[in-house]
Amino acid sequence: MKTNIGVFFGGRSTEHEISVISASQAMHAINRDKYDVTPIYISKQGKWYTGDALFDVANYRDINSLLAKCQEVYMRPIYDDYNLYKTKKPLFGTDVLTRLDVVIPVLHGSNVEDGIFEGVLQTIGIPYAGCDVLASANGMDKITMKMILQACDIPVVDYVWFTDKQWFAKRDELIAQIENKLGYPVIVKPANLGSSVGIGCAHNREELIDKVDAAEQYSTRLIVEYMVKDLQEINCSVIGDCNEYRMSVLEQPLTSQDILTYTDKYMGGTKGAKGMAASQKKFPADLPDAETKRIQFLAGETFRALSCHGVSRVDVMIEGKSERDASGCRKIFVNEINTIPGSLSFYLWEGSGLKFDEEMEHLVQLALKRKREQGMKTVSYDQNIFSLGGGIKGGKMGKLGK
Ligand SMILES: Nc1ncnc2c1ncn2[C@@H]1O[C@H](COP(=O)(O)OP(=O)(O)O)[C@@H](O)[C@H]1O
Ligand SMILES: [Mg+2]
Repeated sequence: MKTNIGVFFGGRSTEHEISVISASQAMHAINRDKYDVTPIYISKQGKWYTGDALFDVANYRDINSLLAKCQEVYMRPIYDDYNLYKTKKPLFGTDVLTRLDVVIPVLHGSNVEDGIFEGVLQTIGIPYAGCDVLASANGMDKITMKMILQACDIPVVDYVWFTDKQWFAKRDELIAQIENKLGYPVIVKPANLGSSVGIGCAHNREELIDKVDAAEQYSTRLIVEYMVKDLQEINCSVIGDCNEYRMSVLEQPLTSQDILTYTDKYMGGTKGAKGMAASQKKFPADLPDAETKRIQFLAGETFRALSCHGVSRVDVMIEGKSERDASGCRKIFVNEINTIPGSLSFYLWEGSGLKFDEEMEHLVQLALKRKREQGMKTVSYDQNIFSLGGGIKGGKMGKLGK
């Protein structure tokens, strides 16, 4: 019996389509001599489907006819039950469609990449690739992520953050704080989206108000950042776990505007989206040795500080015309980590000597290793306090403590 990999993708996320592309690339890269692949598509409504028709990106043009060829499925939130069940129970026979051995989530964005889905997998206890609940949640929230990186002396841009309600309650105070701390221009972002959705650049107070009002449509948590001048963006992928990891070569994504847009990232100026692999870029990035090494170091530190796992991509920003320090580096800031990067960053790994099928194999092995390691930790005490007899005063649950 081959190991059966369940690849989950889609989801209730603004990056739904990008996830379909990334997953299709990943599924085709998995070595079929060794593994079976079960595609599980999460619709925009949050329902799960499986079927062979899900392998081909062309089929997603007409979702209704695609789903008509698929079966709706689910897993139960029960520890150790790795079965995939048919939602429509057959009159005769079992409702178990198949059993998964390991899961690879290829999901991007809020509601899926932020630990919510990982929590389901963790509840079931099935081995899965990529970050756990804690790392996923910290990695998705641009505010929490920056707080952690700052505490670890990893350079990030100055920022001011607030909630939508605070914005309505004390807008003038927040504007004054932003102007004093950051000045203009600034970048305004919803804290927990991706693919540049809801992100804008403000050059004055009026634009600031506009952009915050726009970002507020997407998230309750908002961040306003110092805008890096003469921006040079560099991406570096990291693979492994927080004890043992390695960094890829660097890429420099290119944009024609102030900020890298959704179209820049995924359409590559050509017809037909090919995901992150198709974006316009300089690859490998053309940087002096000192800056390359520093960026790779910062990417690794970011991965470690956030306790990441599997494959991530760390995006940094260089202030183009800033002075070079003693080691020859300009100002470099870590912008963000993507804990499930577009196209699983396969093009960065291929450029680093790791083929896509090897990357997928590595992700599976890392998932199994984490499961083995977790199995060695104590999760409960054998002693049952309820059997102690007389030891529990009054028997009131409230007095048991935790
Ligand atoms: N502080 C900043 N200064 C200058 N440009 C920025 C800044 N933050 C983001 N950008 C631009 O906006 C793009 C999207 O922002 P990012 O934080 O990476 O969000 P997303 O999660 O949507 O990719 C970046 O790729 C970059 O081009
Ligand atoms: Mg980004």
